[in-house]
Amino acid sequence: MFTELLNDTEADLIKAADYIKSGKVVGIPTETVYGLGADAANESAVRAVFEAKGRPADNPLIVHLASFSDADNYAKDIPDLARKLAERFCPGPLTMVMPKMDNIPYVTSGGLETVGIRVPSHSVMHRIIELSGTAIAAPSANTSGYPSPTTAQHVMRDMNGKISAVVDGGQSEFGVESTVISFDDEETARILRPGAVTREMLLEICKNVIIDPAILKEVEAGAKVASPGMKYKHYSPKADIIMVESDLAGFNRVVGNDYDNGVYALIFDGDEADCPYRHLTYGADSAQQAHLLFQRLRELDEIGAEKVYVRSPSTEGMGLAVYNRLIRAAGFEVIRI
Ligand code: TXA
Ligand code: MG
Repeated sequence: MFTELLNDTEADLIKAADYIKSGKVVGIPTETVYGLGADAANESAVRAVFEAKGRPADNPLIVHLASFSDADNYAKDIPDLARKLAERFCPGPLTMVMPKMDNIPYVTSGGLETVGIRVPSHSVMHRIIELSGTAIAAPSANTSGYPSPTTAQHVMRDMNGKISAVVDGGQSEFGVESTVISFDDEETARILRPGAVTREMLLEICKNVIIDPAILKEVEAGAKVASPGMKYKHYSPKADIIMVESDLAGFNRVVGNDYDNGVYALIFDGDEADCPYRHLTYGADSAQQAHLLFQRLRELDEIGAEKVYVRSPSTEGMGLAVYNRLIRAAGFEVIRI
């Protein structure tokens, strides 16, 4: 299949929306990461998304809408708390899991009775949803297990020849996927995946916010999880990733003891002065680290890194999202000093 690279002109967005309406799969930009979009109600189109990614069939897709007011067409028993959160955070990087209506097929929901609803803020994504006149199911546009794409070129690298088109909408602003939440009761949100909408931000609206334990710890084989994505190895480049929770001096000792070819470090901006080893940096604060993380993981593969020691980020605020992605990329391999 020829994969067309489209721009953000109105003519190209009409083309992308027409592809989606006719059951094709298109790579689309969002403010978090790029998505692999298909008509959420079209079973064969959604199946083609799973196939292009090599994604397990039990891992549900998020359904993207132009406005939260459309959620009543796809989800039922929407809690008041969800409506309040939508007023504050939609459009934006928040996905809310709620009971699904029948027009969301089980292929899309991974066999679950629920659906994750998100209203993206990226103007290109918004326009494509509007023009297509349908809800767009979209997982991140990476090959399953690989780091999510934050540019159209990343999508091309993973999907060239497998999907109809990729729309170039520039580099994704946040760089990590949306915060995914479910509701334990009328006052309590549960974070299933951390993102740019942080626990502190949710607490401005919710009385209670629970961080699901699976965010920080490995899920035991066979355990029941709140979100199927928690089970799978994720975000991993080819290189072996090792997290090091330490100050810079301790980190430098760990890397300094390992002089093999192919060993790299991923450190903070500002750490470089003291490090005599091969390295890349991924920003100085949590927002920058989120923005750069997946791009750096892809770059490390391109430069031939085989083993990468990563300085463990803060888990405060948006740092929790960065930590969550890295610890999965590392397969939970952590050196604590
Ligand atoms: O920012 C994002 O959310 C991006 C952009 C494209 O919107 N999408 C994205 O989709 O990250 P994906 O499929 O790569 O990750 C969705 C995560 C998975 O871990 C999945 O298990 C979880 O959300 N999820 C989706 N629907 C769910 C549901 N009904 N119940 C529980 N978890 C759900
Ligand atoms: Mg993903």
